[in-house]
Amino acid sequence: MAIMYRCLLAAVVALAAPVVEALLRFSCSQLVVERLDPLVFPGLSQSPHVHQIVGGNMFNTTMDPTRNDIASEATCTTCTFAEDFSNYWTAALYFRARNGSVIRMPQIPNVGFGGASNGGMTVYYTPSYNGGKVTAFQRGFRMVVGNPMYRTAAEAAKNRQLTFICLQDLSTRSPETTDMPKQACPAGIMANVRFPTCWDGKTLDPPDHTSHVAYPSSGTFESGGPCPSTHPVKIPQLFYETIFDTRKFNDKALWPEDGSQPFVWAYGDCTGYGTHGDYVFGWKGDALQRAMDANCDIACAQLKTQSIATGNHTT
Ligand SMILES: *[C@@H]1O[C@H](CO)[C@@H](O)[C@H](O)[C@H]1NC(C)=O
Ligand SMILES: *[C@@H]1O[C@H](CO)[C@@H](O)[C@H](O)[C@H]1NC(C)=O
Repeated sequence: MAIMYRCLLAAVVALAAPVVEALLRFSCSQLVVERLDPLVFPGLSQSPHVHQIVGGNMFNTTMDPTRNDIASEATCTTCTFAEDFSNYWTAALYFRARNGSVIRMPQIPNVGFGGASNGGMTVYYTPSYNGGKVTAFQRGFRMVVGNPMYRTAAEAAKNRQLTFICLQDLSTRSPETTDMPKQACPAGIMANVRFPTCWDGKTLDPPDHTSHVAYPSSGTFESGGPCPSTHPVKIPQLFYETIFDTRKFNDKALWPEDGSQPFVWAYGDCTGYGTHGDYVFGWKGDALQRAMDANCDIACAQLKTQSIATGNHTT
């Protein structure tokens, strides 16, 4: 498993040819699909668009880190690292049929994570590709990457590495595009969300949920680029892979008459440029820091694990 993944990753980082040190890669089954967004629209029982959410069972309409300690109040998680009560989410993806009906696309499990209920998501935390310490997120830390209002390539370029892969099979990892695939994808559409890797070192969650983190000032995370002076603290690269099962809708006779691609995010975006991901940190104690310090590679003796089947029973 680890070896196979290394090969896949090589395609992404080949340009700078850094040494891949280690990364955490794990499955989180689906928790809920709901119109809730405690980060951007706290307290609202119907957020503007539908999300699919994985992780700990403290997920709620409102999640106020000053009142609740997610990691000590949660009792279970859909993730296979049993001390991870974080919540991870993306928008839901829909198909617009020629006959006008709109159908939500189910998700399927990633390579190596068969049996994850409703597909869920694959989550990665990578400390660094070239050694050096990273500071793990801490209690109350939350962030959003991407902007659901974006509809152009120029806007999408403000965020690096929010991409799609048109899956030929479950192992396809290139090419990555910043817009939604325009052709039918035989094995589904994978949405990739990589968060920025530099932190201002003090703000846990600013009102815009984004300005406390930044990309390296030159180069990339993968090439070991330095953090800007405004955001000097290196944090792990958080990365989501979500696979939407579009296979039943690949028949072009069902697609719009003009041949345009029919998949649309819950917030009405069929360009894909508005893709985004949300994160609420909820690891217990210093578990994530310990895993990062130990350079855990996929498996991690420093962490408590549970089976995918156990994660599926989280409610
Ligand atoms: C979710 O929020 C509601 C309203 O604030 C509260 O009554 C409920 O106990 C919360 N659920 C959990 C699991 O904390
Ligand atoms: C419209 O097309 C979709 C996709 O093929 C199909 O699932 C649905 O049943 C159709 N609805 C009607 C009313 O024909």
